[in-house]
Amino acid sequence: MTLAEFAPAKINLYLHVTGKRGDGYHLLDSLVVFAGIGDSVSVAPAEHLTLAIDGPMAAGLAADSSNIVWKAAEALAARAGTRAGAAITLTKRLPVASGIGGGSADAAATLRALERLWGITLPAADRHGLALSLGADVPVCLAGRPARMSGVGERLEPVPALPPLWLALINPRVPLSTPAVFKARQNCFSDPAALETMPRDAAHLAALLAARRNDLTAAAISLAPEVATALAGLAACDGCLLARMSGSGATCLGLFASAEAAAGAARTLGALHPGWWCESAPMLT
Ligand code: C5P
Repeated sequence: MTLAEFAPAKINLYLHVTGKRGDGYHLLDSLVVFAGIGDSVSVAPAEHLTLAIDGPMAAGLAADSSNIVWKAAEALAARAGTRAGAAITLTKRLPVASGIGGGSADAAATLRALERLWGITLPAADRHGLALSLGADVPVCLAGRPARMSGVGERLEPVPALPPLWLALINPRVPLSTPAVFKARQNCFSDPAALETMPRDAAHLAALLAARRNDLTAAAISLAPEVATALAGLAACDGCLLARMSGSGATCLGLFASAEAAAGAARTLGALHPGWWCESAPMLT
C-alpha cells in the first residue's frame, strides 16, 4: 500500500512585514494561495524510517535526518507516540530555496500522508503546533487552501473565494536563503489594508494586490539582481495583471486571467532565459 500526497507550491500574493518578535522572527501579513504545480510525497509501510528523493530538482538534497521531510516524520511519530516506520519518497519538482515553500509544502504533505498511513488523528491545536515547530510556513501548507496569514505564520484566516487565476512562475535559479533575505532588509515595517471583499474577477483583484507588495523584494534583489530581471520580464508579458516576488524569493509570479496567457509568459521567459525555471499553473481554489 502506497499513499501519495501532493505538495503544492505556496504563493504569497502579497507579503508585508509588520513587526519583529523578541526572538528575531518577523511578524507578517500575507495572502497565501497554492498553485497546481508542486512536489509529491508518497509513503509505504516499513519497519524503519527511510527517505528516497527523486525528480528533476532532487540534486543536492540530503535524504537523511537533516531533511525537513524526515524531521516531520520524526516529530509526528514522537507526538503520536508511535514506533511505526515508513518508506518515504519525495519527488522534487520545485526549485529548492526559492520562496514558494517547497520544504514547507513537503513537510505538510509528509504529515498528511503519515497521518493516513499510521491512522493518527491529533487534536487540532497539537497538529497546528507540530506544523509550526517545523517552520513558519508549514501551518498554512498543512491547511492547503487560500488564507490570510499573520503572526510569524501561525495565525490563519480563511479568505473569501478568489476569482479564477493562472500563474506564471519564474525562478532565475539563484537559491536565496530566507534568513539571509530577512537580514538584508531595511528595518522598517508596513501594514496593508485588509482585503474586506474579494473581487469576482482577476483584473480587480490584481488592482487591489497592486496596492500591496512584497516587503522582502528589495532585500532579495540586493542578493540576487536576477529577481528584478524576472519581475520586469513578467510585467512585459501579454496579459500580465501583476508581477510580484513570492516569499523570500527568488521565484516571481505573474498573475493572468487565462491559462493560455500564463503559459505564453512562461514560454517567452523560458526562451529568453534558458536555464531559468519557467512554469505555468492554475491557482488552486
Ligand atoms: O520558520 P522557517 O524555518 O521557515 O524560517 C526560516 C528563517 O526565516 C528563520 O530562522 C528566520 O530567520 C526567518 N523568518 C523570520 N520570520 C518569519 C519566518 C521566517 O524572520 N515569520
